[in-house]
Amino acid sequence: MYRILLVCLGNICRSPLAEAVFHDVMARRGLASMLKVDSAAIGRSHLKEKPDRRAIACALSRGYRHIEQIRSRPVKAQDFLQFDLILAMDESVLRALQRQCPQDARHKLDLFLRFAGHEGEAEVPDPYYGNAEGFTKVLDLCESGVTAIVQKLNLPS
Ligand code: 4NP
Repeated sequence: MYRILLVCLGNICRSPLAEAVFHDVMARRGLASMLKVDSAAIGRSHLKEKPDRRAIACALSRGYRHIEQIRSRPVKAQDFLQFDLILAMDESVLRALQRQCPQDARHKLDLFLRFAGHEGEAEVPDPYYGNAEGFTKVLDLCESGVTAIVQKLNLPS
């Protein structure tokens, strides 16, 4: 079992969208026994909340129904032990993770899009203060990132 944790500031926009896309790919490809994917927040202002309603609407418009199951939770110390790969949505989240992470687990940290080998931007832009278009852009990036990561990990497709 390979474990991936997706992290953004609030765990209500970007990381839930990426988790929902992963969940869909895993269900379609029968990967649930091989891969565990979860998401978490570096910040503390939206804990236990459902994803942002704009993130839910965007995900449901493409059939990613798992988004409705997610509730925001904080990154915990044990995450650095239990997950194999911890992917931050932007540089400031990565820096915050680096500050919390024990030295011997630092190799588990990376940017989501950098790990995915995405050409162009390395950060998933924060859509919170923007409009629906920003959420569509985030979902596009999540879809291409997740596809690339599943290929990179050499999981069956
Ligand atoms: P996320 O988006 O990190 O993608 O979940 C945000 C959610 C909340 C805030 C900022 C970004 N906030 O400032 O409350």
